[in-house]
Amino acid sequence: MDIILLGPPGAGKGTQAKRLEEGRGMIQLSTGDMLRSAREAGTPVGLRVRAVMDRGELVSDAIVSALIGEHLDLGGATGAIFDGYPRTQPQAEALEILLEERGRKIDHVVELVVDEEELVTRITGRFTCAKCKAPYHDELHQPKVTGVCDICGGTEFRRRPDDNEQTVRTRMAEYREKTAPILPFYEAKGLVRRVDGMASVEQVAAAIDAFLDS
Ligand code: AP5
Repeated sequence: MDIILLGPPGAGKGTQAKRLEEGRGMIQLSTGDMLRSAREAGTPVGLRVRAVMDRGELVSDAIVSALIGEHLDLGGATGAIFDGYPRTQPQAEALEILLEERGRKIDHVVELVVDEEELVTRITGRFTCAKCKAPYHDELHQPKVTGVCDICGGTEFRRRPDDNEQTVRTRMAEYREKTAPILPFYEAKGLVRRVDGMASVEQVAAAIDAFLDS
């Protein structure tokens, strides 16, 4: 099963993708994580995208579609969770072709419906495990044992340079202008399932499970 998680910054795509990865043996394909890894490794792509990401703008379609194309092999996984890709109409069309070449197709598009103002609080309090990238929040979602990742037991955590209010607002504007308009492309195929992204992590997870199991 291949699914897309769609929603503005902070909607909970990464949180739910990690959960699906653990619970269903799927793989999370996050273009944001791929780009951040490229930055950390100082690759030519990483150097090219640094300033664009720090401004909260979208990286070029060619770069992200090439990255996704390199990660489509499922290995032993049961399917892929596309987290943060596609984000534009050309990316949606590129993904169709990339999957078709492999005899695959998108089964569900889960749209996390959220209140953007509340997302600013979510994002500015966010931190992740340095080792497995599990997401946490200062007020909303602390690890069960302070300073220890629930998932991998890691003890180092990181905050993203683009998680400040000004950049978050640019990222949200990019979502409204370039990403939300791809929904009709998937609606026409009858693939879009809407979930209340403002509910608790567990409630959102249960709603997604209900769609995937239906
Ligand atoms: P990317 O890394 O994809 O960031 P994003 O889309 O802005 O999404 P986030 O990771 O910020 O949010 P999320 O929805 O995953 O929320 P999370 O689960 O962490 O992209 C970063 C940049 O890379 C872009 O700006 C762009 O420059 C570039 N880029 C990436 N992909 C691209 C593409 N395809 N094309 C072009 N450019 C691209 O949750 C947030 C917080 O809320 C966490 O603290 C979490 O614990 C908490 N939380 C989650 N769910 C809940 C809940 N239900 N209730 C309470 N708290 C919750």
